[in-house]
Amino acid sequence: MNNFAKIIEVERGDMKFAYVQNDEINYLDLFDQFLAEEGHHQLLDPSDKLERYTYLINHNQSKFIFKIDGGVEHRLERKLIAKITGDFYFNLIRKLAKISLDKCDIAYELYLVAFDKRTKRHYMIFNFIEGRSLKWEEMREYGDQVKNCIEKLHSYNLVSNDVHGGNFILTPDGKIKAIDLTNSGFIWLTKANDAIEAQERFDIKIKVPFFAMAIKMFTHGFKRLSRKIRGKED
Ligand SMILES: Nc1ncnc2c1ncn2[C@@H]1O[C@H](COP(=O)(O)OP(=O)(O)O)[C@@H](O)[C@H]1O
Ligand SMILES: [Mg+2]
Repeated sequence: MNNFAKIIEVERGDMKFAYVQNDEINYLDLFDQFLAEEGHHQLLDPSDKLERYTYLINHNQSKFIFKIDGGVEHRLERKLIAKITGDFYFNLIRKLAKISLDKCDIAYELYLVAFDKRTKRHYMIFNFIEGRSLKWEEMREYGDQVKNCIEKLHSYNLVSNDVHGGNFILTPDGKIKAIDLTNSGFIWLTKANDAIEAQERFDIKIKVPFFAMAIKMFTHGFKRLSRKIRGKED
């Protein structure tokens, strides 16, 4: 049984870990086992984005998602923000644990996060959610549930930052769950990104703090204008 109230933090050489305590599975052992066998698993999304891999793994009849994020942030302002707010994924494991403890059921569960200080890679183990991703055109159809899901995520200070069908799973019992949560920057500000994407792409209206929205609308408009001036397509 997962004990989301207990997150264990350890360091081992260059690696830093945080993982959920579980009586039956030691997630640290599962991590070691996966790394030893990397390359022998089913790659779910050979992402075109550099250095991001998502694997489906089977362990004792349970399915897990193993994700590697090797994205290194070079922009100075992003690095500074990360210094202030702390490592996004290490915050994510605590916030998702809170959602699980509250039995809120709006997102995937995160069992382990590891950071390799040498290679700057993050590794994560999530639960596999049975069901399927929403198609782009289904987002409107499930608009109320998507809205509810994003607004609840925001109430836990989490953001999608990439609102599209691929990042929402429809479960066999008709629930919508968010996956692939990321952020670069301040979360309170990124909430407005979610609102803008949901509105512009799917006509879904999400309530976000007025001040965040005002700043984003301003920079959003500014980016568009600058692209137009440089003759680039939207
Ligand atoms: N926890 C999960 N449960 C079920 N399917 C998942 C899960 N995580 C990822 N997937 C599947 O893998 C795909 C890619 O994962 P995602 O985390 O969105 O990676 P990327 O960063 O490349 O977009 C998703 O669109 C989904 O189909
Ligand atoms: Mg995705």
